[in-house]
Amino acid sequence: MPASHHSPSPSPPPSKRQKTDTESTPSLRPRVNFRDAVTLAPMVRSGTLPSRLLALKYGADLVWHPETVDKAIIGCERVVNESTGVISYTRGGRALFTMHPIERNHLIFQLGSADPELAVKAALTVLPDVAGIDLNCGCPKSFSVHSGMGAALLTNPDLLCGILTALREALPSDVPVTAKIRLLPTQDDTLKLVKRIVETGVSALTVHCRTRNMRPREPALIHRLREVVEFVEGLGVGVTVLENGDCSGRPDAKRVRDTTGAHGVMIARAAESNLSCFSTDPIVDATSVLALEYLRLAKYLDNAWGNSKFCVSQFSSPSPASAPGGKSYLKHFRSLLTSAKEYDVFENEFEGGLAGGEGIMDEIRNVMEARNASGGAENDGSIPAIKPEEDAVAGEGSARVALVDGIIAATNEHARTATPASATGEFELGAPTVNPIAPDFRGETHDKSGDLPLIIRSFEQNQAETPGFRSR
Ligand SMILES: Cc1cc2nc3c(=O)[nH]c(=O)nc-3n(C[C@H](O)[C@H](O)[C@H](O)COP(=O)(O)O)c2cc1C
Repeated sequence: MPASHHSPSPSPPPSKRQKTDTESTPSLRPRVNFRDAVTLAPMVRSGTLPSRLLALKYGADLVWHPETVDKAIIGCERVVNESTGVISYTRGGRALFTMHPIERNHLIFQLGSADPELAVKAALTVLPDVAGIDLNCGCPKSFSVHSGMGAALLTNPDLLCGILTALREALPSDVPVTAKIRLLPTQDDTLKLVKRIVETGVSALTVHCRTRNMRPREPALIHRLREVVEFVEGLGVGVTVLENGDCSGRPDAKRVRDTTGAHGVMIARAAESNLSCFSTDPIVDATSVLALEYLRLAKYLDNAWGNSKFCVSQFSSPSPASAPGGKSYLKHFRSLLTSAKEYDVFENEFEGGLAGGEGIMDEIRNVMEARNASGGAENDGSIPAIKPEEDAVAGEGSARVALVDGIIAATNEHARTATPASATGEFELGAPTVNPIAPDFRGETHDKSGDLPLIIRSFEQNQAETPGFRSR
């Protein structure tokens, strides 16, 4: 068993808000980019650590941790596995939340809560190890709704928004708070709820395009989303809307976005079947190729065998018989999977063995490092760039922004004359500027040559410091 390092989780916050260290010092957190993102949905059981890491490897921009109830996480002990780097939040020997630092800047932790104070305590508990906090407002299962959580919040907007507001106020401003809802039966009620949620200061809103009573096999009502997206855009606060429901992968994201106008998508069951669906060129044969990769990684990470077995058994391929080794290989693989009670038993019987997890981890690390260096969400052409050259409202002059290779680039008249640069390049911004595509964007980015600094300030900074600033 690898060596572990234990530390008590942060002590519960005082009920009155105090400034945290993170707020008084400059932020070291990279911005979480929800725009154009193709994301892994929160999935209890299926969204465990190996699934999230493979989703990231194959191109997911962000990954959601499955719903965790506030009370369960509060007071957990934070345990670091020194040899793998895996961090677990445990109680009584049971891990409630397990993550790896390489996913931290892409990991959104979903809370189940019906209590603002508990939600804040739970969020602060996991804060060092997550990029953002999401509130589950859509789970229709009785364990969730009977205690006022999940979909029960849809009909209790005061509580729903109370939790979001408390989270927004308590967390450092560079930690996004988001919500995941379902459609309400009528469009009017949906828009009313969306307005209230958006006003709490969330950075992103995921809309699962089914109503609370709809079953998963019923087609998602994605045609209803366009009006919601346009409504949110009309509010001019820059909240990102993610579509959820029936997207089959990155190649399908364009259809979903064209139909709905959504700024990004979230995928659940298609990813459960094939974690490489986030790639532009997914692995066709998930049932053998991906399954083996999964088990090797999972063994290295010490993921519970029962969970790994479950996740792999969810994989499906359009034509499994054409897998390398054909039908007989698959039959053998599956019967071993069913009968084995632990990794070692499977490994002893399986010719290829389960070594190599560390190498897979290295590959994922390299993918993440390359992605972080290139500035976040990739725009590989399967996702249409958001309306290029959209007008922005600036404190001084007007700016124009466009999405270039996933990096928000901006120009303004002032810079255009001062800087000899091509029409599609990025320019130094002389004036404080708010970016309507990502109003919470802050920090510096660079043009492709790396010479011209581009500074886009946050919405809050502009509001506070720019005379005449107005939002659209
Ligand atoms: C196995 C499983 C577990 C799920 N767990 C959660 C969860 O923890 N939190 C949540 O908000 N939704 C959960 N969902 C719902 C999904 O996130 C998603 O909203 C739903 O499956 C629709 O997306 P899809 O059509 O892409 O599958 C779960 C779905 C599945 C299949």
